[in-house]
Amino acid sequence: MITASAPGKLNLILLVGKPDQRGYHPLYSIFETLNIRERATVRFRPQRDESARIGMPIVVHTLGADLSDLEPTKHLAFRAARALILEAGELGIPAVPDGHVLEIEIEKSIPVAGGMAGGSADAAATLVAVDKLLGLNLDRERMHEIARGLGADVPACLEGGISLGLGYGDRMTRLDQPDTPEHYWVMCTMRQGLSTPAVFKEFDVQGRGRSKLPTSLREGDWRVLEGAEQLVGLLENDLQETALSMHPTLGQAWKVIEEAGPLAVLLSGSGPTVAALATSLEHARQIEQRLAEAPEVENTLVVSGPAQPAKVE
Ligand code: C5P
Repeated sequence: MITASAPGKLNLILLVGKPDQRGYHPLYSIFETLNIRERATVRFRPQRDESARIGMPIVVHTLGADLSDLEPTKHLAFRAARALILEAGELGIPAVPDGHVLEIEIEKSIPVAGGMAGGSADAAATLVAVDKLLGLNLDRERMHEIARGLGADVPACLEGGISLGLGYGDRMTRLDQPDTPEHYWVMCTMRQGLSTPAVFKEFDVQGRGRSKLPTSLREGDWRVLEGAEQLVGLLENDLQETALSMHPTLGQAWKVIEEAGPLAVLLSGSGPTVAALATSLEHARQIEQRLAEAPEVENTLVVSGPAQPAKVE
């Protein structure tokens, strides 16, 4: 039995280009991974009938969130395990022993449909755990290729730290150094989620895509590695206005969060989770307390970043 964990993320900077023919968007993104982690525990167990239904000897259980609406084969943990079983086949390495299934237990901590890459972190943790269980020992480059095929945020969750994502946000360059200071955030979730594809689609309808994106780190963006005060004014998310226009209560919540006294407020990914930047852990707790009674905000989580990469526990 192997357990691995992977961090969630926040996009400190998210610039979005016009969609390609497949409808995918080129991105310029600086990810900060967060100290809120998904855990994947994997093991082999004797097969009963259930996995025959989905054509692969993989069973996924999710704890801490209700994903019963999600088709089993769409769970990113399932897709991550399937990708590695296929990889093992290509390498001629025996994967799942006859008469057994690969059982995956996901313990979720990251809010679902919040723009914090919870599903991608499930995939990243599963990749690391299954790689170890099957004894594949894939190198970083191959793991990233497989991660990219699962979703644009999966490489960021594998990588940890603070990284620049180019291409579709999935070609990673790690930026943080051992002396990069911690940043404290209050992540504010909303009662109603937002679907990432729906936000990108509406973004296109609103004609907001940039015709040109930077192809390497912009000069001033190194400042993401400095303290919280230096982040103010740097934080930027092109999806923010679109998400605000789509969500019924996000605008009101935004005002309430600003009034709670953070240094800055930013939409997390495609939202609707809102990240409030604090100067310190104490400040983050104060903001959290001020939001405790706010009906517009479902829940608050104090987190810090950057975080450790996806790793075996
Ligand atoms: O890559 P991932 O599956 O996480 O993306 C979810 C959805 O977000 C995609 O199906 C696509 O609609 C949208 N997306 C996009 N451009 C990206 C990343 C995601 O349009 N670079």
